[in-house]
Amino acid sequence: MRTPLIAGNWKMNGSAELVEEFGRAFTGTTLPAPLDVVILPPFPYLDAARRAFDGTSLRLGAQTLNPLHSGARTGEVSGRMLKEFGVEFALAGHSERRQLYREDDAAVHDRLLAALNADITPILCVGETLEERDAGKTMEVVLRQVGYVMARLEPDQRTRVIIAYEPVWAIGTGRTATPKQAQEVMAAIREYQAGFDRELAAGLRLLYGGSMNAGNAAELLAQPDIDGGLVGGASLKADDFLAICQSAG
Ligand code: G3H
Repeated sequence: MRTPLIAGNWKMNGSAELVEEFGRAFTGTTLPAPLDVVILPPFPYLDAARRAFDGTSLRLGAQTLNPLHSGARTGEVSGRMLKEFGVEFALAGHSERRQLYREDDAAVHDRLLAALNADITPILCVGETLEERDAGKTMEVVLRQVGYVMARLEPDQRTRVIIAYEPVWAIGTGRTATPKQAQEVMAAIREYQAGFDRELAAGLRLLYGGSMNAGNAAELLAQPDIDGGLVGGASLKADDFLAICQSAG
């Protein structure tokens, strides 16, 4: 049985006030069980979030991390530092990192490995662009992104990875993949993993990301291979995010 997971990626958004608002909204709130709920705020808010979320079901995630423990890497943050602030999850390979910061598959692998080495659960993000989908290359692109990383991990490391399928054309566009489109790709990811190990594939947690909101979450989450969501825009309002979490029951 796979525990559903809803993660709210605030990207470069949010404020100290929003952190407090989430702390209040999730205090004393009953959520479906079992369910993991994670907020990934910008780095400066991690400490405040840890305090504001104390006693709630909200757990902390990071949007990226550097492959190194420490050193001359101006502007970067390491897994060891994140761990000190209670971070339990970290994204690797979000499409914005791949596109805007030129992170290729090797860079994504290095970051994901750094998360594992810091005892942080990595969420590997994969997804095709509209151009790639239109060219019929969705599976090729997605399975290459998954395969590059997974093939370079030890079997026990693979079992700790969560994968988020985020079609790039659905991110922040208001255009969501249909449940059928998402299910098709996510079933292919699970099948691909089964090639390594059937048990691993059965336990692999797969999240959908791309304009998920309170209105479409239930239908997406009802798909057999969708175990949760990686939510961007709709994670910036506590009520909307809470409604998505309630759909995960
Ligand atoms: O990390 C979250 C995804 O990029 C989805 O963002 O919900 O704003 O489309 P979105």
